[in-house]
Amino acid sequence: MDRDSAAKKMGRLKAEISRHNELYYQKAEPVITDVEYDALERELSALENQFPDLAVTDSPTREVGSDRDANFPSVAHSRPMLSLQNSYELAEVEAFDQRVRKELRSAADEEGSVYSLEPKMDGVALAVRYKDGRLFLGLTRGDGRHGDDVTANARTFREIPLDLEPGWQDVFPGPEVRMFEARGEAFLTFSRFQALNLEREAAGQDSLANPRNATAGTLKTLDVDEVRRRELSVFFYQLFPLYPEDPDKQQTADGNLEFSDHFSEMKALETLGLPVNPFLKKASQISGIEAILKELETQRPHLDYQIDGVVIKVADRKSQLKLGATAKAPRWGLAFKFAAEEAVTLLRDITLQVGRTGVITPVAELEPVELAGTTVSRATLHNWAEMERKDIRIGDRVVVVKGGDIIPKVLRVLKEHRNGKERLLAAPGVCPVCGHTTGQQDNEVALRCLNPLCPAVVAGRLRHFASRNACDIDGLGDRSIELFLELGLIRGPADLFGLDPAVLSELPGWGEKSAQRLVLGLEQARRRPWSAKIFALGISQVGVSTALTLARHYPDIDRLREATAGDLADLPDIGPIVGETVVAFLSSSAGGTMIDDLKAAGFFLDEELLPPPELAYQGETWFGGKVFVLTGTLERMKRTEAKEAIENLGGKVTGSVSKRTDVLVAGAKSGSKLVKAEQLGIEVVDEEQFELLLAEAQKTVAENDG
Ligand code: IVH
Repeated sequence: MDRDSAAKKMGRLKAEISRHNELYYQKAEPVITDVEYDALERELSALENQFPDLAVTDSPTREVGSDRDANFPSVAHSRPMLSLQNSYELAEVEAFDQRVRKELRSAADEEGSVYSLEPKMDGVALAVRYKDGRLFLGLTRGDGRHGDDVTANARTFREIPLDLEPGWQDVFPGPEVRMFEARGEAFLTFSRFQALNLEREAAGQDSLANPRNATAGTLKTLDVDEVRRRELSVFFYQLFPLYPEDPDKQQTADGNLEFSDHFSEMKALETLGLPVNPFLKKASQISGIEAILKELETQRPHLDYQIDGVVIKVADRKSQLKLGATAKAPRWGLAFKFAAEEAVTLLRDITLQVGRTGVITPVAELEPVELAGTTVSRATLHNWAEMERKDIRIGDRVVVVKGGDIIPKVLRVLKEHRNGKERLLAAPGVCPVCGHTTGQQDNEVALRCLNPLCPAVVAGRLRHFASRNACDIDGLGDRSIELFLELGLIRGPADLFGLDPAVLSELPGWGEKSAQRLVLGLEQARRRPWSAKIFALGISQVGVSTALTLARHYPDIDRLREATAGDLADLPDIGPIVGETVVAFLSSSAGGTMIDDLKAAGFFLDEELLPPPELAYQGETWFGGKVFVLTGTLERMKRTEAKEAIENLGGKVTGSVSKRTDVLVAGAKSGSKLVKAEQLGIEVVDEEQFELLLAEAQKTVAENDG
């Protein structure tokens, strides 16, 4: 491939992966399987290796996705919360074992290549911290460096003790420990998930989509009583002491040798009264590993919780330290992912769904079938091109899988079962909802209803406008939106602000209280951060993070409207395609009218500027309280600029490396300072990592102050 095509391809892959990250981490609604996701990542990574100069610092191959949510304060992680390298074939496990043995040079030495194997829980990562035996913090993964503070929700877990039994310190063999952190995975059991859905159905509420999505949503719910009622579970798999008052010790935190290996670490968790998965095995040969992988795959359908594979870890702590970690994942661990569970069923019918951007999606209506813990009766068929490629017909026997084990999709047709009565479904020339003509936009595969006033589009826009990461309007559910539209009370988001509480309280199923709640919810919507308001507009391709970038560079809606596609394409993370999409929306008559109406309704404030990131920040960022030394040549930034940026984020810069130094920023041609830092075991970051960390911290500052 030539450079130009590679650059284009890389841009497309990056955008695609970011979209899937957002669907997975922010919405907990992945639309592709992990295998497909990893294939995209591998393709990008191969191109990055081939054209290293085209690789960008914020490439998704180097960062973990983010679940950060503006509703919760953000807190720095005690050490990065990393991800795991995935594998799907035994050959990849063998290669991992070879690499481990080679790096530890331990073919003969048993210690290094003893592995622990345990289920990979398909839930949501959760860290808890205890001080003097008392739970004081619960944190989600967030972006891996800062998590969302969900302490109140963590306290509702029945299995997480609020206070530990006296003598808890004894589990730590090292020096006296006052504070520690445990990390694990929160989840909902299948049985609890089903019970909750039965209750919700009876109460006329929407069903929870799947256990993982429900867990993510529950952890980010503001109503603590509701969280308690959901009864989340957790299994922990990591434990380490924290020494906040002793920075020297903290420095070695990642290298804590309190536990000699993963088995004693798990034992300690258990002794503390923190729940651990009962399945934990040991293997040192590939044959042993293989047998355990098989054993777990056989157990999988009988478990009351979702697992998506097996985590294989080098058990010995010293060996783990020796192997180290990349920016994204430890090099001592590997996730072996199971193939998605499949089921065969009858495709009874195909219906059409029109989304908020007008995209028409064919949906398979299936004979209900049990699949990975839930009953599946609908599955996405994506689009017509895909349907034609797979030759899917009504009446076919089809194989269904869950995308990322979550959203079901039709994988393939069992053509040998055809009897000739199956029917093809042609792409509709008119919208199934409003009858307007359909069409495709510039080479897009998706078929769209071209009517911006299509009721399905309007309803979709309203649902998006009210959703959590957008205006988060309390008291406005999907059913209410439909009711208001049906009654002609509203036609777009702006009309919500003109709803009369007296009229609302007379509606079926409504009363004074619910009307009041909605009015309050709308009042709060006006006070949402500027970036959430941009996201709420529902511009196609503008997710939470793109909205944040736009908010940071444009102080208000008027100035955003003046931007050209070229201006936008110059912003970090925004490419020419997204730039054009944004400008097209803002200047379209539907988009323009919606914004004018929202302005008239007082939704936008005159000046919505987020505080400039260069303000000194009092809160906690990765930089806060750390002592930095700069060395070598920085290519893209002046020394003075780097120093100022660190100081603005609450860090300190000194001239020489000593035991008190926390981080060495090493530019090109670093000399003796680098050697000394390495001798002292001080964290070293290169310019690229430094820029990444800076950008992240500045983002946190902007979010928290905004
Ligand atoms: S160990 C540095 N053990 O999978 C990461 N992770 O894809 C060490 N997970 O971040 C993680 N079950 O949220 C580990 N038994 C297990 C796990 C597990 C689920 C999650 C965890 C991790 C993610 C990585």
